[in-house]
Order: sequence, then structure tokens, then C-alpha cells
Amino acid sequence: MVISNSNLRSARCLLVTGGAGFIGSNFVHYWNQHYPSDRLIVLDALTYAGNRANLVGLDEAQVQLVEGDICDRALVDSLVTGKKIDTVVHFAAESHVDRSILAPDAFVRTNVVGTFTLLEAFRQHWLTQKQPDHFRFHHVSTDEVYGSLNPDDPGFNETTPYAPNSPYSASKAGSDHLVRAYHHTYGLPTLMTNCSNNYGPFHFPEKLIPLMCINILMGKPLPVYGDGQNVRDWLYVKDHCSAIDTVIHRAEPDQPTTSAATTKLKISIWSQPCAA
Ligand SMILES: NC(=O)c1ccc[n+]([C@@H]2O[C@H](COP(=O)([O-])OP(=O)(O)OC[C@H]3O[C@@H](n4cnc5c(N)ncnc54)[C@H](O)[C@@H]3O)[C@@H](O)[C@H]2O)c1
Repeated sequence: MVISNSNLRSARCLLVTGGAGFIGSNFVHYWNQHYPSDRLIVLDALTYAGNRANLVGLDEAQVQLVEGDICDRALVDSLVTGKKIDTVVHFAAESHVDRSILAPDAFVRTNVVGTFTLLEAFRQHWLTQKQPDHFRFHHVSTDEVYGSLNPDDPGFNETTPYAPNSPYSASKAGSDHLVRAYHHTYGLPTLMTNCSNNYGPFHFPEKLIPLMCINILMGKPLPVYGDGQNVRDWLYVKDHCSAIDTVIHRAEPDQPTTSAATTKLKISIWSQPCAA
């Protein structure tokens, strides 16, 4: 990642898509706490994964929740121009790998078409406003676009070739390529982070760590993926929010950043207490 020397900032108006979901809501709390003068418009379809309650306690004068779909171009246009958005932080996605295997359609629609809709609306707004230097489109992606590693392989980094293995990661890879192309083709000031698994407050119960915790508490069996030998990297969600903050304020556009984690979890260690 190329870091600029400038640390100056003035108040921003952010469109945060998926801001009622797990990472998005943590980000809204983080941003409101660190930059209380900024306005945040949260656009969220409130699917099964979104929850209004995740945003309770925030200052309603600074944070507004709009229930709607990122594929709705008229709505996105009206928010981007009407609210004078200068920064898009794009979390909205269908995000659960198992669901993508059962029903991939929604993943292609939201993750690919939705990202395209946002890029196109923001590009028109950026052009109308005469391409201001401080405008940013930050795309939140995943390290799953890089596929998986063998035990002795070096970790992923920004130059790792894409090798998505599920409809989820393939749809995120497609959205990454669109973001990259909008910078390359039009000069749109895009940023992108490809992060490992997150854990922390507001985590939806179907995801691994809360699912395992709930099953342990209820004395239920623990589902193990494959032979249980897979290892996953985990990052605390507030560290992810802090990394996005750094990238938005200090990175040059179109420098992809891979947020590495230091906490590794081998799923088989979870299975042993119940198997015993
Ligand atoms: N959870 C992780 O460990 C992880 C790791 C790396 C990257 N990411 C990425 O971070 C982003 C957020 O992940 P998350 O775990 O918070 O997801 P999540 O499933 O908890 O939240 C997604 C949010 O998007 C909203 N949404 C879904 N479809 C929408 C649509 N068409 N229009 C508007 N809103 C819509 C949902 O209502 C929900 O609030 C995703 O882009 C994901 O790919 C997640």
C-alpha cells in the first residue's frame, strides 16, 4: 500500500452500504466515534443479515439509515447526489459461503450488479462535481478471492493471483475487477481492501465463531468443514475498521490492500471437546 504524507481532513459525508450488517455496523460505530462531525448515510436492504438494532445508540443527527437495495439505481443516484456524498464505503454483500453454494443468484446480483450500480452512480456524481480530489470509493472485499493455501505456502498479499473457489468468492472477485476497471478506465478514485475473516460484536450466529459458541453452550454437535484440517485467519472487526480508516485517509487510489490477521484457528481444535 502506498501511504501519502497528508493527514489533513475536513468533514466528510459517507454512504455506507450494508451498514446494518456485521462489519458495516461496527464501522458506523467506529466512524461516528472517531469523526463525530462527519455525516453517515447507511444504505441497507435489511436482509436476514442486517439488523436495525446494530445501529442503536448512534446520534441520529449524524447517522441516517435508509432501507433500500444497492441495485436500485434511482435510489442510489438520489442518495449520492441529494446527500452530497464524497465517500462511499461499500460493505453490502451476500456474504455467507454456504448460502452461495445453495443459491448463487443473489450473490451475483448483489455483489456484482450492486457494486456496478454504485460505481456508475458515484462516477456520474464525481464527474458532475468536476472530479474533486477528496472523493473516494472504498470497496470492502475478502481474501477469499485468492482461494486457499497449502500449510507451507506464504500468506496472501496484494500480488497473489485471483483463484476464487465458491460462488461467493467468485462474485466478490467479479466486483473487485469492476472496481479496478473503474479506476483504470475512468480514473475514479477507488480503494479496495481484501481482508481475512472477522470476529467481534454483532456477528451473525450462522458464522463459524458464534455458531460454535452457541452449539457448545447448547451441547449440540459442532459442524466441521472437510476433514477439520483447514486453518483460517481471524481479524478483530474493530481492527478491520481501523485499517479501512487508514486506507481512506492515507492510501493512494487503486492500491489494493490485504489486511492480514495474526490469529489462526484450526477448526479441528473446536471439534475435539465434543468428540471426546
Ligand atoms: N465477515 C467476514 O469475515 C468478512 C471478511 C472479509 C470481507 N468481508 C466483506 O465485508 C463485507 C461485509 O461483510 P459482513 O460479514 O458484515 O456481511 P453481513 O452479511 O453481516 O452484512 C451484509 C449487509 O449487507 C446488506 N445487504 C445485502 N444485500 C443488500 C443489497 N442488495 N442492498 C443493500 N444492502 C444489502 C445486508 O442487509 C447486511 O446488513 C462484505 O462485502 C464481505 O464480503 C467479510
